[in-house]
Amino acid sequence: MFDTMTFTKIAASLCGALLVLLLGKWAADALYNVDGHGEQAYVIDTGADDSAEEVVEVAFADVFAAADAGAGQRIFRQCSACHKLEDGENAVGPHLYGVVGREVGSTGYGSYSGALNEVADVWSPENLNAFLENPRGWAPGTSMGYNGLRDIEDRANLIAYLASIGS
Ligand code: HEC
Repeated sequence: MFDTMTFTKIAASLCGALLVLLLGKWAADALYNVDGHGEQAYVIDTGADDSAEEVVEVAFADVFAAADAGAGQRIFRQCSACHKLEDGENAVGPHLYGVVGREVGSTGYGSYSGALNEVADVWSPENLNAFLENPRGWAPGTSMGYNGLRDIEDRANLIAYLASIGS
C-alpha cells in the first residue's frame, strides 16, 4: 500500500507534467497561430493553369510528330460511315479532302450546325485533336454524332493520315 507521502508526490508530479504540457501548448499556439485560422495574407500567382494547358499542347505536338499515318488510315474506318475523302463528295458529314489546314465549315455541305465556327476558324492539327477527342464537349451543339476518340496516339495517327489526303 502507498503511504500518504508517496501518493502526494505522485499527484504533485502528475500536476507538474500537466502544467508543462499546458504551457507548451499555449506557447506553441502563440508561436504558430498568430492570426488564428484566418485567410491567407496574400496569394502568389504561379500561373499554374496556363502552364497546364501548355503541357497538354506540347504533349500532343510530340505525339503528332511521331504519328503513323498508316495506323491512322485504319482508324478512319470509324469516320467513313459519314465522311468521304474525295474532294466535294459530301455525305452525312462534309468531305474531308484536305481538311487539315482547311477553313472550318467551308465545303459545299448544306447542313453545318454552325457550332464548329463558334469555336475555331481553321482545322489545325491542334483543333482537330480537341474536336475529335470530345466533339460535343468541345463544340456544344455540333451535329456530328460521334462520341470521340479518347486515345491521343489514335488521334495523332488519324490526323497524320488526314493530312496526307489533299492537305
Ligand atoms: C455519325 C456520322 C459522323 C461520324 C461517325 C463522324 N462524323 Fe465528322 N461530321 C459529321 C457531321 C454531321 C458533321 C457536321 C457537324 C456540324 O456542322 O456541327 C461533321 C463534321 C466534321 C468535321 C468538320 C468539317 C468542316 O468542314 O468543318 C471534321 C473535321 C470531322 N467531322 C471529322 C471527323 C472524323 C475525323 C471522324 C472520325 C473519327 C468523324 N468526323 C466521324 C458526322 C460524322
